[in-house]
Amino acid sequence: MTGRAGPVARIPIGPGRAVVLYGEDALEGLPARVGPGGADVVVTSPPYNRGVPYATYSDRRPRGEYLAWIGETGRAVAGVLAPRGSFFLNVGGSPKDPWLPWDVAREVGRSLVLQNVIHWVKSIAIARKAAGRSVGLAHDLAVGHYKPVVSDRYLHGAHEYVFHFSHDGTVPLDRLAIGVPYQDKSNVRRWKGAGQDLRCRGNTWFLPYPTIRVRATDRPHPATFPPELPEWCVRLHGAARTRRLVDPFVGIGSSAVAAVRLGVDFVGFDIDREYLAVAATRVRAERARLRKVPEREEGR
Ligand SMILES: C[S@@+](CC[C@H](N)C(=O)[O-])C[C@H]1O[C@@H](n2cnc3c(N)ncnc32)[C@H](O)[C@@H]1O
Repeated sequence: MTGRAGPVARIPIGPGRAVVLYGEDALEGLPARVGPGGADVVVTSPPYNRGVPYATYSDRRPRGEYLAWIGETGRAVAGVLAPRGSFFLNVGGSPKDPWLPWDVAREVGRSLVLQNVIHWVKSIAIARKAAGRSVGLAHDLAVGHYKPVVSDRYLHGAHEYVFHFSHDGTVPLDRLAIGVPYQDKSNVRRWKGAGQDLRCRGNTWFLPYPTIRVRATDRPHPATFPPELPEWCVRLHGAARTRRLVDPFVGIGSSAVAAVRLGVDFVGFDIDREYLAVAATRVRAERARLRKVPEREEGR
């Protein structure tokens, strides 16, 4: 008997599969709820120690204390990650603190091997000329949202990192699961093993936030990622060999929504029960949305 309280929510998402949300500290929850090797994929975005106004967590700690905690988190994740599992860690810097993501990655790198560095691009400008004539752009394109910086020395921050860790750096990936069609179709024949009109997307992922109208209701959390981010991470790892996805800092449940789309078991933790209540609502809404489309289109 552990004497621990049960989950805040357990939401069935298919035969034998569920999203389970715990209102507890991830460092305690990971070993107790997930256990050794119990996570095939971990996707998360921890607090960045940049003074974000979370409802419960205080996001301003002495740098050394914060990094030590991140190191502990890395050890806890390594303890639950399956031998051939993948840990995708999203971290963003700020103009004044550009080393932060790398400091965080280095701490986690004491417990796991950094296998890939992915650049999550939130906003991009593409010149019509650079896109090439075949695309048929009528004008230069600027898409996505960024955090404006009022400064004459810093640029707007338009990207974050997703560090991909594994136990030994040799985990095979399903690169074409998130592949992109070749622009030049002659490459389909030319490249060895291509065989199909898809190539590896590479390590720059353009994923804009959806435009929101009312922040308080449309995104009631100050620091989320879109569900497509964890969805792409799981697809890249291999959705078919992912039995359980885990997010130690689940917030309002973007990675849980991804789990519903992919039909995989999910375990998430947050110390803020109000965020978890929103997460449960989003999971139920996604489940209801998917039930309206034929099973074969649900990506199962
Ligand atoms: C960057 S946010 C995650 C947002 C999430 N990716 C989403 O899209 O909703 C980090 C979250 O970590 C939570 N948190 C902070 N310390 C925690 C801890 N020790 N254990 C679990 N959650 C914690 C905060 O409440 C916050 O919601």
